[in-house]
Amino acid sequence: MLSHDTDGVCGDRRMYSGGLSMNMPHHHHEPRVLILGGFGRVGLEAARYLIEETDASLVLCSRAAREIPAWMKKSAAHRVQARVLDIENISALETACAQVQVVLSCVGPSGQVGDRVARACKRVGTPLVDAGGYDPLLRSLEQAEKDTPSGVPLVINVGLLPGLSGLFPHWLIQDRCAGRKLEQLDVHYVGRDAWTYNSAWDIIHSLGGFGEDRGFCYLQNMRVVRVSMRQASRKVLFPAPIGRASTMLIYAEEIARLARQHGIGIARVYGANIGPRATLVCMLAKVLRFYRSARGIDRGARWLVEASARDMRKLAPVYGMRVDLRYQDGTTDSAALTLADTYRATGAVIGTTARCLLEGEGPGPGVFMLHEAVVADRFMRQLEKLALVCIQHEESEPSRATAGMSV
Ligand SMILES: NC(=O)c1ccc[n+]([C@@H]2O[C@H](COP(=O)([O-])OP(=O)(O)OC[C@H]3O[C@@H](n4cnc5c(N)ncnc54)[C@H](OP(=O)(O)O)[C@@H]3O)[C@@H](O)[C@H]2O)c1
Repeated sequence: MLSHDTDGVCGDRRMYSGGLSMNMPHHHHEPRVLILGGFGRVGLEAARYLIEETDASLVLCSRAAREIPAWMKKSAAHRVQARVLDIENISALETACAQVQVVLSCVGPSGQVGDRVARACKRVGTPLVDAGGYDPLLRSLEQAEKDTPSGVPLVINVGLLPGLSGLFPHWLIQDRCAGRKLEQLDVHYVGRDAWTYNSAWDIIHSLGGFGEDRGFCYLQNMRVVRVSMRQASRKVLFPAPIGRASTMLIYAEEIARLARQHGIGIARVYGANIGPRATLVCMLAKVLRFYRSARGIDRGARWLVEASARDMRKLAPVYGMRVDLRYQDGTTDSAALTLADTYRATGAVIGTTARCLLEGEGPGPGVFMLHEAVVADRFMRQLEKLALVCIQHEESEPSRATAGMSV
């Protein structure tokens, strides 16, 4: 079922070519995809992508019986089916996972789901694409791989942040570097939307660095270098409608892995929530360490839901990413990506990843983050075709980024 990738696109990457035959009941000709959390914001958007861009039939799961939305019935009633499933019921979860070619996990909050879904997929041998998971799931799965290697790809953190946030710089490096030695990578993320409770729960939970509070830091030769709060801020110019935004240094595991993969000397990641009320809640939750207890996370998540919804009364959702590359020879490359519908784009990223696996273009068995799992160029082209993202390459202008620190 697995063949070795010989086209050299991505080093030792092995293609997963078992999608269409694995676990396929004989009477089905089209692949079947199970969407856990299929009636949630992200789940419905992933379903939308798969309905519009593939022939796959979908099983949308929820804990209580739900009606398939009218727009879905209209365009794809014969391809969509609803199913009641609680992921706490492990044997029902395994049975459902075993009956499909790919499982999409859009269940939240990730911090409560833990490795339940990923382990079920691993046990029954069905590839997984997970909207979240974050560092704790990555750690847990990589540890489990040492004891029992997976027979299928388990692709986690597949969304905008993390997800596209690692793939976009990876794509830019592959597309632009042309043999030059990369010395420095600066990545900046900003976004705002009205977050669901489950997404907000994961945002508050992440503020504590998942138990490894590294403070404000960047990476120098793969070593974490901490800086003061004053040194950690940076104003960055994004394309309209975002404009200039204040960001702070953060630690991002996917960029750490990217820096290791490309042998980058200095890697800095800056992030900010740019809804004014949501920013305030995140700052409060960080200073008051809400992330340390279940009660604190719940309170922070409820505040964030309320604050981000109020932000969106006057502002539109938006997400932006800016990547600056500096090579050893002094030359630079910069690009920015912006999008307006964060949930739709998250669903499209998850759907495109599922499509790669179904079409045999995924990685071999193992645990991957998005940028490690797909062929970046093909993926970005597919995403651009949907007209959900706008990518602009820029001439380098060092004065555009006003750094509050010097390295
Ligand atoms: N990487 C990224 O950029 C990114 C972006 C957005 C979201 N996310 C992640 O995606 C996840 C979903 O976010 P969302 O905004 O779509 O949340 P949401 O709208 O609340 O959807 C979550 C779904 O999870 C389902 N669920 C919860 N517990 C369950 C259980 N025990 N068994 C089965 N289903 C269960 C719920 O289904 P029912 O209530 O219908 O049973 C709900 O529809 C979150 O973990 C979030 O962190 C990632």
